[in-house]
Amino acid sequence: MSDGGTADFVPSAALDAAIARTAELLRDARSTVALTGAGLSVESGIPPFRGPGGLWTKYGEPPLDGYQRFLRDPAAAWRERLRPTEGWARGLRDTLDAARPNAAHRALVELERRGLLACTITQNIDDLHRQAGSRALLEIHGNHRWLRCVECHRRFEPEHVAVDPERLPPRCPACDGVVKGDTVQFGEPIPPAVLRACYDAVERADCMLLIGTSGTVYPAAEFPFEVLRRGGTVIEINPYESELTGMVPLSLRGPAGAVMERLLHHVGALADPRRASA
Ligand code: APR
Repeated sequence: MSDGGTADFVPSAALDAAIARTAELLRDARSTVALTGAGLSVESGIPPFRGPGGLWTKYGEPPLDGYQRFLRDPAAAWRERLRPTEGWARGLRDTLDAARPNAAHRALVELERRGLLACTITQNIDDLHRQAGSRALLEIHGNHRWLRCVECHRRFEPEHVAVDPERLPPRCPACDGVVKGDTVQFGEPIPPAVLRACYDAVERADCMLLIGTSGTVYPAAEFPFEVLRRGGTVIEINPYESELTGMVPLSLRGPAGAVMERLLHHVGALADPRRASA
């Protein structure tokens, strides 16, 4: 499994010029936020949800009342979490456990390290931004490894909550509330703290990198509009057109890993012109 097909991806002259332009936009921006989706982890071997090879395309969208079902019988939901009976859920869990960050995850860490990226908002639950080393990270849909209390909304790494298969659901160590997986289910409100932090980051941003998302799920899909509404710019990175392509000033058509690696090259060239010809 190549981690981004970077080796055999050669951008056209027009695309490379657009990537170089993006490097300038990042350099000149006051505050840049990246909004990432499932497409960013495709090169880590995790399928997207929609489009070609998408999980929902193959298995159909899950019920939109997943959260209400959890609240009705949290013990049953936990038994399913501990021993998934649905084939795709078992497959996805194994794929998530085996996946590793790719060149796009690492490039975002490098942009953050260079002070060119204020924050990464991810819709992905796969933990790969965290594994790559992203620090200013907002997981708006949660993290598949973590747990969260439905009462006080505290989040926990799995080792901090006692899960006894004989006594389900597990309880919150802080408030004794019911604990669920941290992943935000369909029908579940986004936890208030992370939603507030996302809006704060977006309201400060005058530039957004929109990477590997179809732009179909709200509230995340609203964020690019918010940046544009306030006069900022949005650059999309996606090998295919998305719901948002028509309204963004710049859309880079290529796989995230390869395009982000090329973007780092141009950022480096701006910092040190002697490297421009490399
Ligand atoms: N690099 C970049 N983008 C890619 C790549 C790639 N290698 N491969 C596919 N894509 C793009 C697709 O063209 C598509 O536009 O990634 C996008 C993936 O879209 P979705 O599968 O809809 O994923 P996402 O936008 O993250 O979904 C949002 O929906 O099901 C819920 O909670 C789930 O967080 C998810 C949310």
